[in-house]
Amino acid sequence: MDTYAVFGNPIAHSRSPLVHQYFAQQFDDVIQYQAILAEKESVKQIFDDFFVIGKGANVTLPFKEFAYEYADILSDYAQQAGAVNTLIKQSDGSILGDNTDGVGLVRDIANLGFDLTNKSVLLLGAGGAARGVLPALLSKQPLKIVVANRTAEKAAKLAEVSPLVDGTSLTNIPHQPYDIVINSTSASIDKRILDIDTTLLKDATLIYDMFYSADGTFFNEWCQQFSSAKTFDGLGMLVEQAAASFYLWRGKRPDSKRVINLLREKIQSESKNTIS
Ligand code: ATR
Repeated sequence: MDTYAVFGNPIAHSRSPLVHQYFAQQFDDVIQYQAILAEKESVKQIFDDFFVIGKGANVTLPFKEFAYEYADILSDYAQQAGAVNTLIKQSDGSILGDNTDGVGLVRDIANLGFDLTNKSVLLLGAGGAARGVLPALLSKQPLKIVVANRTAEKAAKLAEVSPLVDGTSLTNIPHQPYDIVINSTSASIDKRILDIDTTLLKDATLIYDMFYSADGTFFNEWCQQFSSAKTFDGLGMLVEQAAASFYLWRGKRPDSKRVINLLREKIQSESKNTIS
């Protein structure tokens, strides 16, 4: 049986084991996929021990930068993102590091019927999550991407990647119509509103929060007051980045839309059970 894992800290609530089992079932494959809690001090040893038999791993916070250092070879997306969320053990024993987060976001946006080509994008936040998805967003040839961040310097740094990207502070976002607004900040996890001019949201047709929750995200609910755009959370991105990892490991493309629906139903029923 092929063995896979996701490493992170915390990791107990990771949906990845379930998502990968849903994928494997579609092909009648039997795989082992564990969630493994790693500590900073021992993470290298844990990776080494795992890859004695492990075929591949996902890596989540806070080890994506470590995984970047750990990999023997890096894909273009991993290099551009400076972070790795997927490790693949190759036939010669070397470990390839890739980053499927951006592909996951872009595929989910396409699933939602939105074409990024020639569109104007407002990306809120300039942390690891934003850096990870920027190369894949650019691959769709948008008209423009404005990265806006509380700390403007970080946005300016990200903007160096392409002349199509501008970096600015949250309070200085250029007034132009944005077709899609993407939240990559962690502000809404803490139920904090972003210090942006809310009239910037009004022309958007799609608002996408890279975070997800059973009953809508704080960011999306907040935006709905100022925009009639459709709002989506990051559950589809989670499944799509996993599907891209599964393909890298097993050469099989799962039906991810089915798994997005299954996972959504499961999360909603868990949330109802908690409330009642
Ligand atoms: P991640 O890897 O998930 O992106 P991160 O690198 O810690 O996490 O980045 C968090 C992002 O959320 C950053 O863009 C951060 O802004 P700063 O770079 O200025 O810190 C943003 N963020 C977090 N809390 C915020 C808040 N209350 N208001 C605005 N931005 C916030």
